[in-house]
Amino acid sequence: MRRIAHISDLHFGKTDPAVVEGLVAELNADRPDLVIASGDFTMKARRREFRQARAFLDRLTSPWFAIPGNHDIPHYDVIERFVDPFHTYRAYIRKDLEPIWSDNEIGVIGINTARRAAFEMNWSHGRISREQILRAKERLEAFPRHLFKIVVGHHPFLPPPYEPQTRLVGRAEEALACFDHLGVKLVLAGHLHRGYADFRKPVIKGDTVVGQEEKSPERVRTSELLIVQAASATSTRLRGEPNAYNRIRIEEGRARLEPRLWDGEKFVSATEASEAVKSGEAPRRDDPPMREAAE
Ligand SMILES: [Fe+2]
Ligand SMILES: [Fe+2]
Repeated sequence: MRRIAHISDLHFGKTDPAVVEGLVAELNADRPDLVIASGDFTMKARRREFRQARAFLDRLTSPWFAIPGNHDIPHYDVIERFVDPFHTYRAYIRKDLEPIWSDNEIGVIGINTARRAAFEMNWSHGRISREQILRAKERLEAFPRHLFKIVVGHHPFLPPPYEPQTRLVGRAEEALACFDHLGVKLVLAGHLHRGYADFRKPVIKGDTVVGQEEKSPERVRTSELLIVQAASATSTRLRGEPNAYNRIRIEEGRARLEPRLWDGEKFVSATEASEAVKSGEAPRRDDPPMREAAE
């Protein structure tokens, strides 16, 4: 049995300090086997924001696993954005943008879905390249067969049930088909600041798996690949949901998900949370204005 805490979109630079403290307290009391952070550690990839993010990680007593998000690429430093977009992330969080972690029960790989630029106005969207899918395939195949395999990315692999047209990470369907084929049981992501989960629903037409837009109920094959999207754990940039993270228990080849919601004072289970908390109306304190650090 393994216990994982899936946290995402911490966004240091725009956090609620009480939630940050509450999260550290809960994680260190709960002591999961691994804390997985699926990107967006900062707001604008500033050094002081990364310093705060690193200080948060250093306080955790559990081992942690991290990948970057689109907010971890500099916004204003155009030279760094194009020449070495993950320079500051690497300096403070982790050198490896696509880490691997395993023990004798689980195997986890990270995929960096954040991009320095795109052929469109909005550069916040993410994608997965063919090379990344190939690399993921090699890494997943190298894990011992009995391991429970987990893939972590930042951008969404599954739309919210109430917004099915939401844009997913580029090549989501191709990547998921590959992961599913290789026996991956769990995909973790964030970016939308919304928490939800569902099993992959690939579409079969004849012998071919096709895109989700042609989905019809009779053609949907069930899959054992669970996709879990996390809300923002600590940011004040909320989208109609409270701060939350996912507690995941892996046992006998299955993942059991328990979202933990911030109720204004502490993290609680969804059954303990009031309707006001679930709708993101719990009381909160915003960050005090931050002084510009000279650096
Ligand atoms: Fe985010
Ligand atoms: Fe993001």
